[in-house]
Amino acid sequence: MEIIRTVEWMKQVSRQARAEGRLTGFVPTMGALHAGHVSLVRAAQRDCSPVVVSIFVNPAQFGPGEDFARYPRSFDADSVLLQSLGVEYLFAPEAAEMYPPGFSSYVEVEGLGSRLEGRARPGHFRGVATVVLKLLEIVEPWRAYFGRKDAQQVRIIQQLVRDFYLDAQIEVCPIVRENDGLALSSRNAYLSADDRRAATALCRALGAAREAIERGERNAARLVAAMREVIGRERRAAADYVEVVRADSFEPAAQLRGECYALLAVFFGATRLLDNMLIVEKDGAMRCEI
Ligand code: PAJ
Repeated sequence: MEIIRTVEWMKQVSRQARAEGRLTGFVPTMGALHAGHVSLVRAAQRDCSPVVVSIFVNPAQFGPGEDFARYPRSFDADSVLLQSLGVEYLFAPEAAEMYPPGFSSYVEVEGLGSRLEGRARPGHFRGVATVVLKLLEIVEPWRAYFGRKDAQQVRIIQQLVRDFYLDAQIEVCPIVRENDGLALSSRNAYLSADDRRAATALCRALGAAREAIERGERNAARLVAAMREVIGRERRAAADYVEVVRADSFEPAAQLRGECYALLAVFFGATRLLDNMLIVEKDGAMRCEI
């Protein structure tokens, strides 16, 4: 595996792969790799060669009071893992390489970017959209792989790709979970043992919504209430938002129809965790994907 530190060299490698007619797969990450990231790498390896993984803790997507400085960093372990998976290129630039002095252009995805995570974390999606646009320009992948774990992020990137006529195909991969249902996240490392146990409230809440849907519930407010009840019973948990939204607009849904998401953001102490369930209407029935 080749570790690439500069934009110029990464661009040269991408151009060369393209000239050879190879189909580059790209997995952008912020490192502290776990099985969720690995699932994206494996998906990329099924369809593409070469595979490029980036590790870049993007300062632009963290707010002033957020965890940029203490975000988990484990570069050596990450690169050993990627090497063992057979990844060809690891793109790991320094912040000054991606945001050199004088850098001044940012991307704002309006509407979509201002709801839910966007409202809770002002500037977050501006930072995500900006860095993803930059990374897609540098790596020029055929396909780029993202996790449904961050459903709103995926939707924003799809919008970015559409609005700027980017060539990359965006692939969305399922959520990888621990045995007890907790979605893998680099931020799970912040949890105390008690909070780690309590954190299953997220997927338990989604499970309650799924049960209600299977019993025939189609009213979003009642699904939200069912999820809030599970979160409310867990005294270590404090809900930030619990919503059912349309998958295209991320606007609140009144009734389930077409594609929707049940979305939660919940605090355990200072740690804020996300989870979601995709709800798809097919032939009059609702299929729930947790
Ligand atoms: P990061 O949080 O490192 O996540 C990198 C990718 O892994 C994202 O597409 C995310 O959705 C996916 N992922 C995280 N946990 C997952 C899980 N449990 N199952 C499946 N996929 C999972 O998301 C980012 O980094 C950044 O915002 C980034 C897109 C790299 C831009 O900086």
